[in-house]
Amino acid sequence: MDSAFRVIAHRGASAEAPENTLPAFRLALEQGASEVELDVRFSSDLEIMVFHDDALDRKTGLRGRFSHYDASALRRTDIGRWFDVTRPHAQRRFAGTCLATLDEVLETLGDRVRYHIEIKDSNPLLPLRLLQAVDAHGLESRVTITSFSMKPLLAVQKVAPERPICFLLRDAHDAVRSAEFRPHLHGKSIEAIQDYWIDAAAEAGFSQVAVRAQDVTPRCIARAADRGVTLRGWGVRDEADLLWLLRIGAVGATVDWPARAIEIVRAHAEDGRR
Ligand code: G3P
Ligand code: CA
Repeated sequence: MDSAFRVIAHRGASAEAPENTLPAFRLALEQGASEVELDVRFSSDLEIMVFHDDALDRKTGLRGRFSHYDASALRRTDIGRWFDVTRPHAQRRFAGTCLATLDEVLETLGDRVRYHIEIKDSNPLLPLRLLQAVDAHGLESRVTITSFSMKPLLAVQKVAPERPICFLLRDAHDAVRSAEFRPHLHGKSIEAIQDYWIDAAAEAGFSQVAVRAQDVTPRCIARAADRGVTLRGWGVRDEADLLWLLRIGAVGATVDWPARAIEIVRAHAEDGRR
């Protein structure tokens, strides 16, 4: 892709393969993605695993909290069956696809992609362990660390201030319910909340903020630019969301369907050259 707009395969090509798995990341690469997003959390024995949810019940055959299981059990846990059942019209079947460790993902994809790694776990050991894992694979120049929480990002910033960090802004509805931010945000408009977060990210020295696609406006893009941080989208639901981000100047977005998104971005760039 030669466009400045970055298509980031959200949990891999997660519309067509089970999210956050090796098949989903491989498929994203096959489809031309040069950037992938993934979620990390600790197993009970402190292995960094790639999985989104706090609980295992919805997407696997295990019950209860993710952090109660060790890596060996999690690596034998099938997420492919859930995908097959919930996407009966998907072109491929994935039963037997199990959860992956971060090491497996970094080893498999290597330096062929840029990684946007989201810290999902509140364990204070995770940020530094994550940096160590990235460095052990020699991928420090290819990783952006992200989180909806400031705390792990500040921990990363403290020990590795040169690393790209992206602060994920919660959606408008969720914003004032967060225990971490409620004291500062109670009663404020979405615009004021966005300003607060963009300013906080800039003051912390982070390089980027990510805003839910429907909430992104020219006003908040200008605010971010004024504060020296780039702004990308997340939560892209459809082509209209993606086109909106393209038109108003976001620098990229996480998208579940990278192949289609890359086509749209290319077509948009060609239209702009005519
Ligand atoms: O790009 C950030 C996006 O991944 C946040 O949403 O639910 O996938 O963690 P979620
Ligand atoms: Ca994520």
